[in-house]
Amino acid sequence: MNQGPLVFVGTFFALAATWFTFVLEPSQQIGNQSQFLIEDSGQLFPVKPAGLAHQGEAVYRANGCFYCHTMQVRPQGLGGDVARGWGARSGPVQSVSRDYLFAETTMLGSQRVGPDLTNIGLRQTNLVWHLQHLYDPSSLAPGSTMPPYRFLFTKHTLKPGQKRSPDALPEDPKAPGVEVLPSDDAKALVAYLTGLHSDGVLYEAPAFYVKPVAKADKKAAVPVTPAPAPAK
Ligand code: HEC
Repeated sequence: MNQGPLVFVGTFFALAATWFTFVLEPSQQIGNQSQFLIEDSGQLFPVKPAGLAHQGEAVYRANGCFYCHTMQVRPQGLGGDVARGWGARSGPVQSVSRDYLFAETTMLGSQRVGPDLTNIGLRQTNLVWHLQHLYDPSSLAPGSTMPPYRFLFTKHTLKPGQKRSPDALPEDPKAPGVEVLPSDDAKALVAYLTGLHSDGVLYEAPAFYVKPVAKADKKAAVPVTPAPAPAK
């Protein structure tokens, strides 16, 4: 018996169901997301990285930072992300799709050789720290396995009496008279890093309210602790 039409109709419905489930439905759910007004502060979230930070996103991508760093915070109860202080909202809540609304390339990352960088802009606001860390990670985090990104800097010896540039990294006592200047790429990268935050409370990631805990039940309260010190 010729089953051709039946096979055709069956295949058609199978493909159509797959398309509805994996293309249409997700695009309905997350395709129309827009900026969200945070009522407490009156600010919009997320904010589109502008100018220098936008250039820095390209530098982050070009240098493969995402091979070692993630940008996704798992919900409480699924790993220690929240306990490490990587969640940034007012309450230990996870990353949601809206966080990536303006990311040119979503660089979620899959390996955590280094800490998650979702809220690095809130954890570390010091620009000089970031520049120094890129130039020589182990000078700030002894034993760091992060590679130094010295090619993002230029180094030259000062002439006698020459003043240090205000942009220069703090003087290394081991190399007096030498000036290390960040390139435009290094400055852009740091502008991008310091702009990374996901602190807007979104309805799809509601703030977590810590239930009052009886004194004896200390385990139930998960304190939000800062990121652990790097492995020595
Ligand atoms: C080979 C893996 C690796 C790569 C590639 C890498 N990192 Fe790291 N990174 C680490 C490790 C390990 C740490 C923790 C130790 C430290 O602070 O240096 C770290 C720490 C950091 C921190 C401090 C995080 C914190 O919570 O204090 C920042 C910021 C950072 N990296 C940015 C970058 C940027 C930007 C790039 C790309 C230019 C990059 N990393 C590439 C491994 C890496």
